[in-house]
Amino acid sequence: MINELSVELPEGLRNQLINMAMEARANSYAPYSHYRVGAAVLTGNGRIFTGCNVENASYGLTNCAERTAIFKAVSEGETHITVIAIAGGKEDADELDLAYPCGACRQVMREFGDPENFVIIVAKSVKEFKIYSLGQLLPESFGPGNVKE
Ligand code: THU
Repeated sequence: MINELSVELPEGLRNQLINMAMEARANSYAPYSHYRVGAAVLTGNGRIFTGCNVENASYGLTNCAERTAIFKAVSEGETHITVIAIAGGKEDADELDLAYPCGACRQVMREFGDPENFVIIVAKSVKEFKIYSLGQLLPESFGPGNVKE
């Protein structure tokens, strides 16, 4: 199930990130959609941060799991992210979905990672997952280089 990817990601680290995303999903606050998502990011310095989706009665204020995890990393001074694992699915389903990141989250990933080297793992379990580069899921993107001096 692994696509062609230039980045080497050891199996142990991949499993750890998938497991941490699934654990983070337990904290998902999704009383409206009942769609629960967890994410785990690995930073360039080797630190791991997790996040879940956090909904709001004013629905549009909802924050996705991916952005929660990324914003936690950035707010701790980690502005270079290399890998994200995502685990999501309906609250009452027997198994997880392949929960692909939404467009907003892909653009936030673009801010903190290089499209060719940023790895996205979309996981149903440590055995069933797909792996992409950010460039594959967000081709021809607009990023910091377009506006930085
Ligand atoms: N959600 C995420 O957490 N990540 C995504 O990439 C897509 C959607 C959440 C937001 C909302 O709480 C629920 O899933 C249903 O849209």
